[in-house]
Amino acid sequence: MSGVLTVEPLVEGSGVSVRFGSFLALDNLSLRVMPGKVFGLLGPNGAGKTTTIKVLMGLVAASLGNVKVCGLNPLLEPIAVKSRIGYVAENSIVYESLSPRDFFEFVVSMRKIDPVSANRVVSRLADVFDLAAYFDSPIATLSMGLKQKVALIAAFIHQPPVLLLDEPLNGLDAKSSRVVKDLMSLHVQRGGAVLFSTHIMEIAEQLCTRIAIIDHGKVVAVGTLDQLRSKTDGLGSSLEDVFLKLTNEESAVADRSRMLREAFFGNEAH
Ligand SMILES: Nc1ncnc2c1ncn2[C@@H]1O[C@H](COP(=O)(O)OP(=O)(O)OP(=O)(O)O)[C@@H](O)[C@H]1O
Ligand SMILES: [Mg+2]
Repeated sequence: MSGVLTVEPLVEGSGVSVRFGSFLALDNLSLRVMPGKVFGLLGPNGAGKTTTIKVLMGLVAASLGNVKVCGLNPLLEPIAVKSRIGYVAENSIVYESLSPRDFFEFVVSMRKIDPVSANRVVSRLADVFDLAAYFDSPIATLSMGLKQKVALIAAFIHQPPVLLLDEPLNGLDAKSSRVVKDLMSLHVQRGGAVLFSTHIMEIAEQLCTRIAIIDHGKVVAVGTLDQLRSKTDGLGSSLEDVFLKLTNEESAVADRSRMLREAFFGNEAH
């Protein structure tokens, strides 16, 4: 095989199970994200998306299976792994009493990175996100979307190869959502990898090279959008149709619509 370059995945989970007490939150889940790829995690509420991301970050220990980020085990080499990941949590813990300026300085000092290049990243991203005007306001006083922008910038400060983003567009307006989508695309063009969760089918459709649909802790389907379509009857043209079919929620959606019509219009519902 000489002369053949093997490319290793930047993110890899194989046979990962996670138990919380007697509850099996992840059940034999496997995924891999290669350099240059955007991988989307879709699934109903409670499916296990956040748990998957936390396992990859080393914040939750797998009961079974193996996890590697940049070839490293997040539990055995937590600092090395975290230095390679830009992480945006579902509920970002951003120190509320600090201003964005103080918070970014804190992140730079914690990460022991060059403050000059870090400040360059921060000021450019603050400009693209229109955040500069809020730089000295306590984070507690910022709106939800502004806090999300602070969390996103903090995840980029050390220019990591891997981005793990849990619903990164949460609370963002249309312009800022576009910025985040562009950031994700540029990141993979430079050879990085992105794994993100979302409930927004359109975003997954636009951005992902591969998509995994998770339900009750299991991957029920993984592949390109076309591969997922072919797992259903192939007629579902949108990812939403495919998603609802694969998670068996099509009939549940129809039921909810009927229940709502009955609640609003009583027996006159049709
Ligand atoms: N620390 C915990 N202790 C007990 N159960 C937990 C814990 N964390 C998550 N779970 C359970 O694991 C399951 C998966 O949760 P998870 O947060 O991963 O779902 P999710 O796919 O991210 O959902 P959502 O779309 O609502 O964000 C849920 O049933 C949740 O209640
Ligand atoms: Mg979640």
